[in-house]
Amino acid sequence: MTLKITPFSQDMAAELLALMHSSDTIDHHNSYTLWQAAQFDGDLFLTAQLNGQMVGYIFGRQTSNGVLLWQICVAKSQQNKGIGMSLATAFCKAAQVKGIEQIQLTITPDNQASKSLFTQLADHLGWNFEQQGVTGTFANTMKNEDIYIITVLD
Ligand SMILES: CC(C)(COP(=O)(O)OP(=O)(O)OC[C@H]1O[C@@H](n2cnc3c(N)ncnc32)[C@H](O)[C@@H]1OP(=O)(O)O)[C@@H](O)C(=O)NCCC(=O)NCCS
Repeated sequence: MTLKITPFSQDMAAELLALMHSSDTIDHHNSYTLWQAAQFDGDLFLTAQLNGQMVGYIFGRQTSNGVLLWQICVAKSQQNKGIGMSLATAFCKAAQVKGIEQIQLTITPDNQASKSLFTQLADHLGWNFEQQGVTGTFANTMKNEDIYIITVLD
Protein backbone atom coordinates (compact mmCIF):
# COMPACT_ATOMS: atom_id res chain seq x y z
CA MET A 1 0.00 0.00 0.00
CA THR A 2 2.93 2.34 -0.64
CA LEU A 3 2.28 5.40 -2.73
CA LYS A 4 4.79 5.90 -5.52
CA ILE A 5 5.24 9.09 -7.50
CA THR A 6 6.53 8.09 -10.93
CA PRO A 7 7.06 9.85 -14.27
CA PHE A 8 4.23 9.50 -16.79
CA SER A 9 4.88 7.26 -19.77
CA GLN A 10 2.67 6.65 -22.79
CA ASP A 11 1.75 3.11 -21.72
CA MET A 12 -0.20 4.80 -18.88
CA ALA A 13 -2.27 6.90 -21.31
CA ALA A 14 -5.48 4.86 -21.12
CA GLU A 15 -5.46 4.90 -17.32
CA LEU A 16 -4.76 8.63 -17.27
CA LEU A 17 -7.58 9.41 -19.72
CA ALA A 18 -10.03 7.33 -17.66
CA LEU A 19 -9.01 9.19 -14.49
CA MET A 20 -9.29 12.58 -16.18
CA HIS A 21 -12.77 11.77 -17.54
CA SER A 22 -13.93 10.50 -14.12
CA SER A 23 -13.65 14.07 -12.77
CA ASP A 24 -16.30 16.64 -13.59
CA THR A 25 -14.23 19.45 -12.03
CA ILE A 26 -11.35 19.60 -14.51
CA ASP A 27 -10.98 20.28 -18.22
CA HIS A 28 -10.99 17.11 -20.33
CA HIS A 29 -7.98 17.67 -22.55
CA ASN A 30 -7.64 15.94 -25.86
CA SER A 31 -4.95 13.31 -26.43
CA TYR A 32 -2.79 15.59 -28.56
CA THR A 33 -2.63 18.19 -25.76
CA LEU A 34 -1.59 15.51 -23.27
CA TRP A 35 0.93 14.09 -25.73
CA GLN A 36 2.48 17.56 -26.09
CA ALA A 37 2.81 17.91 -22.32
CA ALA A 38 4.49 14.50 -22.08
CA GLN A 39 6.71 15.13 -25.10
CA PHE A 40 7.97 18.62 -24.23
CA ASP A 41 7.73 18.72 -20.43
CA GLY A 42 8.07 15.08 -19.44
CA ASP A 43 9.96 15.96 -16.25
CA LEU A 44 6.87 17.90 -15.08
CA PHE A 45 4.42 15.06 -15.82
CA LEU A 46 4.05 12.79 -12.80
CA THR A 47 1.65 10.09 -11.67
CA ALA A 48 0.71 8.67 -8.27
CA GLN A 49 0.60 4.85 -8.19
CA LEU A 50 -1.02 2.79 -5.46
CA ASN A 51 -0.71 -0.99 -5.75
CA GLY A 52 0.16 -0.63 -9.42
CA GLN A 53 -2.90 1.50 -10.16
CA MET A 54 -2.84 5.16 -11.17
CA VAL A 55 -4.69 7.16 -8.52
CA GLY A 56 -3.54 10.63 -9.50
CA TYR A 57 -1.49 12.73 -11.88
CA ILE A 58 -0.08 16.22 -12.29
CA PHE A 59 1.45 17.94 -15.29
CA GLY A 60 2.72 21.35 -16.32
CA ARG A 61 4.43 23.38 -19.01
CA GLN A 62 7.56 25.41 -18.89
CA THR A 63 6.90 29.03 -19.86
CA SER A 64 9.23 31.91 -20.73
CA ASN A 65 9.55 32.91 -17.09
CA GLY A 66 8.54 29.88 -15.05
CA VAL A 67 6.24 26.91 -15.04
CA LEU A 68 2.49 26.57 -15.47
CA LEU A 69 1.04 23.90 -13.19
CA TRP A 70 -1.59 22.84 -15.68
CA GLN A 71 -3.65 20.13 -14.06
CA ILE A 72 -3.75 17.94 -10.97
CA CYS A 73 -6.26 15.18 -10.36
CA VAL A 74 -6.70 12.52 -7.67
CA ALA A 75 -9.22 9.67 -8.04
CA LYS A 76 -12.39 10.47 -6.07
CA SER A 77 -12.05 7.31 -3.95
CA GLN A 78 -8.52 8.32 -2.92
CA GLN A 79 -9.02 12.01 -2.14
CA ASN A 80 -8.23 13.52 1.28
CA LYS A 81 -5.43 11.02 1.92
CA GLY A 82 -2.48 13.26 1.12
CA ILE A 83 -1.99 12.09 -2.47
CA GLY A 84 -2.61 15.54 -3.99
CA MET A 85 -0.10 17.01 -1.56
CA SER A 86 2.50 14.36 -2.52
CA LEU A 87 1.99 15.00 -6.23
CA ALA A 88 2.06 18.80 -5.90
CA THR A 89 5.17 18.66 -3.69
CA ALA A 90 6.99 16.42 -6.19
CA PHE A 91 5.97 18.77 -9.02
CA CYS A 92 7.26 21.85 -7.16
CA LYS A 93 10.54 20.10 -6.32
CA ALA A 94 10.94 19.10 -9.99
CA ALA A 95 10.41 22.73 -10.99
CA GLN A 96 12.92 23.87 -8.37
CA VAL A 97 15.52 21.40 -9.73
CA LYS A 98 15.06 23.01 -13.16
CA GLY A 99 15.93 26.39 -11.62
CA ILE A 100 12.36 27.69 -11.91
CA GLU A 101 11.56 30.67 -9.70
CA GLN A 102 7.80 30.99 -10.29
CA ILE A 103 5.04 28.40 -10.60
CA GLN A 104 1.79 29.73 -11.98
CA LEU A 105 -1.59 28.01 -11.62
CA THR A 106 -5.24 28.86 -12.01
CA ILE A 107 -8.06 27.90 -9.65
CA THR A 108 -11.79 28.41 -10.06
CA PRO A 109 -13.03 30.41 -7.05
CA ASP A 110 -15.38 27.59 -5.99
CA ASN A 111 -12.62 24.92 -5.90
CA GLN A 112 -11.93 24.96 -2.16
CA ALA A 113 -10.00 21.66 -2.25
CA SER A 114 -7.51 23.00 -4.78
CA LYS A 115 -7.12 26.37 -3.08
CA SER A 116 -6.61 24.75 0.30
CA LEU A 117 -4.13 22.21 -1.12
CA PHE A 118 -1.89 24.89 -2.62
CA THR A 119 -2.16 27.23 0.36
CA GLN A 120 -0.99 24.39 2.62
CA LEU A 121 1.68 23.29 0.16
CA ALA A 122 3.26 26.75 0.00
CA ASP A 123 3.05 26.89 3.77
CA HIS A 124 4.86 23.53 4.16
CA LEU A 125 7.59 24.53 1.73
CA GLY A 126 7.89 28.04 3.15
CA TRP A 127 7.22 29.46 -0.31
CA ASN A 128 5.07 32.47 -1.18
CA PHE A 129 1.55 31.92 -2.63
CA GLU A 130 -0.48 34.85 -3.86
CA GLN A 131 -3.25 35.68 -6.29
CA GLN A 132 -2.30 37.83 -9.27
CA GLY A 133 -5.28 38.55 -11.52
CA VAL A 134 -7.83 36.41 -13.31
CA THR A 135 -7.90 34.48 -16.58
CA GLY A 136 -11.03 36.00 -18.14
CA THR A 137 -13.56 33.80 -19.90
CA PHE A 138 -12.02 33.53 -23.39
CA ALA A 139 -15.18 34.80 -25.13
CA ASN A 140 -17.43 33.05 -22.59
CA THR A 141 -16.01 29.62 -23.39
CA MET A 142 -14.32 28.93 -20.05
CA LYS A 143 -14.77 29.67 -16.36
CA ASN A 144 -13.11 32.79 -15.03
CA GLU A 145 -10.28 31.41 -12.91
CA ASP A 146 -8.06 33.13 -10.35
CA ILE A 147 -4.36 33.16 -11.29
CA TYR A 148 -1.94 32.29 -8.48
CA ILE A 149 1.84 32.53 -8.33
CA ILE A 150 3.95 30.29 -6.13
CA THR A 151 7.38 31.85 -5.67
CA VAL A 152 10.10 29.26 -5.18
CA LEU A 153 12.31 30.20 -2.24
CA ASP A 154 15.54 28.45 -1.17
C1 LIG B 1 -7.68 19.16 -5.51
C2 LIG B 1 -7.26 17.70 -5.31
C3 LIG B 1 -6.17 17.36 -6.32
C4 LIG B 1 -6.71 17.52 -3.87
O1 LIG B 1 -6.17 16.22 -3.78
P1 LIG B 1 -6.25 15.37 -2.42
O2 LIG B 1 -5.41 14.16 -2.61
O3 LIG B 1 -7.67 15.14 -2.06
O4 LIG B 1 -5.61 16.40 -1.39
P2 LIG B 1 -4.82 16.02 -0.06
O5 LIG B 1 -5.46 14.86 0.62
O6 LIG B 1 -3.37 15.91 -0.39
O7 LIG B 1 -5.10 17.30 0.82
C5 LIG B 1 -4.18 18.35 0.90
C6 LIG B 1 -4.83 19.53 1.60
O8 LIG B 1 -5.82 20.04 0.73
C7 LIG B 1 -6.98 20.39 1.47
N1 LIG B 1 -8.16 19.73 0.93
C8 LIG B 1 -8.22 18.60 0.21
N2 LIG B 1 -9.49 18.33 -0.15
C9 LIG B 1 -10.25 19.32 0.40
C10 LIG B 1 -11.63 19.62 0.36
N3 LIG B 1 -12.49 18.82 -0.30
N4 LIG B 1 -12.06 20.74 0.98
C11 LIG B 1 -11.20 21.56 1.62
N5 LIG B 1 -9.87 21.33 1.68
C12 LIG B 1 -9.41 20.22 1.09
C13 LIG B 1 -6.72 20.06 2.90
O9 LIG B 1 -6.37 21.27 3.53
C14 LIG B 1 -5.54 19.16 2.90
O10 LIG B 1 -4.67 19.42 3.95
P3 LIG B 1 -4.89 18.73 5.39
O11 LIG B 1 -5.04 17.26 5.14
O12 LIG B 1 -3.65 19.09 6.12
O13 LIG B 1 -6.12 19.34 5.93
C15 LIG B 1 -8.48 16.73 -5.46
O14 LIG B 1 -9.53 17.20 -4.64
C16 LIG B 1 -8.98 16.58 -6.89
O15 LIG B 1 -8.44 15.79 -7.67
N6 LIG B 1 -10.05 17.35 -7.25
C17 LIG B 1 -10.63 17.24 -8.58
C18 LIG B 1 -9.71 17.82 -9.64
C19 LIG B 1 -9.37 19.26 -9.37
O16 LIG B 1 -10.20 20.05 -8.95
N7 LIG B 1 -8.09 19.62 -9.66
C20 LIG B 1 -7.61 20.99 -9.44
C21 LIG B 1 -7.82 21.87 -10.62
S1 LIG B 1 -6.73 21.47 -11.96
